Amino acid sequence: MDQLVVTGGARLSGSVAVLGAKNAVLKHLVATLLAPGTHRIDNVPSILDVSLMCDVINHIGATCRFNGSTVEVDVPDELVPEAPIDLVRRMRASIIVLGALLARRGVARVALPGGDDFGSRPIDMHLDGLEAMGASFELVHGVLVGSAPNGLRGADVHLEFPSVGATENLLLAGVMARGSTTIGNAAREPEIQDLAEFLSRMGAQVRGAGTSTIEIDGVSSLEPAHHRAVPDRLEAGTYLVAAAMTGGEVTVTDCVPEHLRMELRKLGDAGSEYEVGKDWVTLRGPDRPRPVDFATLPYPGFHTDMHPQMVALLSLANGTSVITENIYAARFRYVGELNRLGADVQLEGQHVIIRGVSVLSGCPVDACDIRAGAALVLAGLRADGYTTVTEAQHIDRGYSDFAGKLRSLGAEIVRETV
Ligand code: EPU
Repeated sequence: MDQLVVTGGARLSGSVAVLGAKNAVLKHLVATLLAPGTHRIDNVPSILDVSLMCDVINHIGATCRFNGSTVEVDVPDELVPEAPIDLVRRMRASIIVLGALLARRGVARVALPGGDDFGSRPIDMHLDGLEAMGASFELVHGVLVGSAPNGLRGADVHLEFPSVGATENLLLAGVMARGSTTIGNAAREPEIQDLAEFLSRMGAQVRGAGTSTIEIDGVSSLEPAHHRAVPDRLEAGTYLVAAAMTGGEVTVTDCVPEHLRMELRKLGDAGSEYEVGKDWVTLRGPDRPRPVDFATLPYPGFHTDMHPQMVALLSLANGTSVITENIYAARFRYVGELNRLGADVQLEGQHVIIRGVSVLSGCPVDACDIRAGAALVLAGLRADGYTTVTEAQHIDRGYSDFAGKLRSLGAEIVRETV
């Protein structure tokens, strides 16, 4: 068990580069399963979730080789079409192999992911869409067994909600289905557009990724490809909030500012000043943030994965802010931890009411998930004394060398193994 010990007080300054997006690379790794041969993905972050997804696709038969921020994946002709419970439990996103395995093998056995810290997180939209494409599912001893003995066929699917995972599963299934598939009310996240670009490099015929309607013409086979993952807007956004939090000035490079438009707008409303270039953002934080209200929404709305970091910032505002969480039913475990640091945050259903305080005071807190962990470290940067963030492995799932990068910006933060 590792923990991060943060000593508050430093104003961050300098520049920090971000790597590829976790939530894109995880899906690229799965997409490789669609074509035998050697694929290469560049700009891959060195994070726990990437290793976990490699374990999943290794189990299926692939071999991942890392060289710095590049991963090469060898995919054999024959795949073992299953993701067992020990892997799915470690990473819920494993469910994304369903569409690719059904497309390649006509069968998939994937342990059913349970609920998690964000609530029940059903996968009904994934299954409804794949059923419309000719798959059928049964639950056998906790394992979802999908089969499409006659192969998948194209279909018109209209999602009830623009789910990122359902859109990706259907995209991965549709590229090799017989005929055309349309995904209506599709998620528009940049990571989906990036997955479609990778699939197109493999020879897939996809139009409209990044809009609400994705059209796919199925092809009978795909080729291995090289691809550079889109920069991680959440890693970038987290360092920008760190700058805002400490009243510092930080330049985040190798990012796509356009992908952070809503988050930057809200950081501006909260008193930060920023400049953007083609692939960088420089942000200067205020001495004390102003309160702001916003709601999390699917892209291009404010990202739910930036919600805890933003609450940490607003806990120090000179007034009351209200944030409404619309994506997850229960993304609030971090609230109690933040309050232990002296914040005044209350929950009213899906609304987070943040009454700004003038000081936080360091104490031990628990990183309950990736973004909560990051938010608590950011709060520690502004708290008096030491803040010890335990269960740092949650942060490792999504941030590569989080402590080292913050240290390079002047933060006082050390990692300890307990
Ligand atoms: N939902 C359903 N039924 C479904 C699918 C989703 O009810 O069939 C609900 C979920 O329970 C949730 C909401 O719809 O309440 C949104 O879920 P979505 O499918 O969009 O999210 P996801 O694919 O499970 C990805 C990211 C999350 C990110 C969300 C939202 C990956 C591996 N995960 O999850 O990232 O929060 O999209 O943008 O891509 C993180 O990186 O820290 C993280 C949690």
